[in-house]
Amino acid sequence: MDELIKEFRNRFHKGPERIFFCPGRINLIGEHIDYNGGTVMPCAISLGTYLAVSRNIDKCFRFQCLNFPETADLHLQESYSKTGKQWFNYPLGVINYFLQEGHDLSGLDMLFYGNLPIGAGLSSSASIEVLTAFALDEIFQKGISRKAMAILSRKVENEFIGVNCGIMDQFTVAMGRRKTALLLNCDTLDYEYLPFETGAYILVIINSNKQRKLADSKYNERFTECGAALKLLKQGSGINNLCEMSIAEFELKRHLINNPVLEKRALHVISENARVADAAIALQTGDLEVFGKLMYASHQSLRDLYEVSGKELDTIVDFCRTYRGCIGARMTGAGFGGCAIALIKEDQIDDFSIKLTGYYRKQIGTAPDIFASEPGEGVRELKP
Ligand code: GLA
Repeated sequence: MDELIKEFRNRFHKGPERIFFCPGRINLIGEHIDYNGGTVMPCAISLGTYLAVSRNIDKCFRFQCLNFPETADLHLQESYSKTGKQWFNYPLGVINYFLQEGHDLSGLDMLFYGNLPIGAGLSSSASIEVLTAFALDEIFQKGISRKAMAILSRKVENEFIGVNCGIMDQFTVAMGRRKTALLLNCDTLDYEYLPFETGAYILVIINSNKQRKLADSKYNERFTECGAALKLLKQGSGINNLCEMSIAEFELKRHLINNPVLEKRALHVISENARVADAAIALQTGDLEVFGKLMYASHQSLRDLYEVSGKELDTIVDFCRTYRGCIGARMTGAGFGGCAIALIKEDQIDDFSIKLTGYYRKQIGTAPDIFASEPGEGVRELKP
């Protein structure tokens, strides 16, 4: 934070008025089902994005970031559209929808800094979006709820940036709470907090360091495939999204799909939604072994049916399956690279890290980054 304040002074020749922080997220289980009306179980983490900000009198939004060289100075307009692929499109999109919703804003000098690894699938984009929405709401006293900030931020991603993501990431970084997992119904947005108690085990994030390059196009492809499967399954039932269908019902109706790829996609979605319900019970009853088994089953389904894993993530999870102090592991987030998570016996974490690193190096040629994590708070203001 000191460094951020110092840099802000260097760049804007005054101190920041306020500092905000928004975390990234991991998803414990319930992958690729948020945009199918499913229930997911994510949590916020301790890494995230910082924003130092001051108002200015020249009706200008100034975007700067310690992580990227590109900057932008944009005069206050009625609306904005995306320019190229630069990072500042995310906060700009949030400003755009605030203006479109009729909120008066005035100029801001903004300096961002993120410590989430880029391209690792820990939701750096949701983090910067919700961070901007929270800061705008606080500075201009708009009285917007956290839920509404998540909804607006998702709109930025869908309509301004062009990724058909669900609500999970934005909702989690807005609403996360310490030491709890969120159980979020992405259709109704009903949610509850489940205490995340892992006894002798700790939650570990493993960054494969394989950047999620094709992620956006492949993600949109899966989104379209689910829409196509739904259309076919709808003929035989009145469902509005894939997660309204039980596995038993799917078995009776799957012949309607008549396309092996779409059938696999739908089977993943429907079975993953059921796994989340089982995982919630396992967490509530303290049955971590069952929780871990569901994590492995989720990974297998994402690998074989949804086809969003990859050699790097599979290598990590394969190793975890053979490691005695690991009770469960899976890829987390969109996939195609990025991170895996695992539950590891706390007193074996050093041994696990050394052995996994050795195995991964042999198979992939590079080292993963391994760090312990626990569920953290959502977006908030920081007091220097
Ligand atoms: C990305 C999206 C989320 C969700 C996950 C997969 O993180 O932004 O909405 O779909 O992938 O579960």
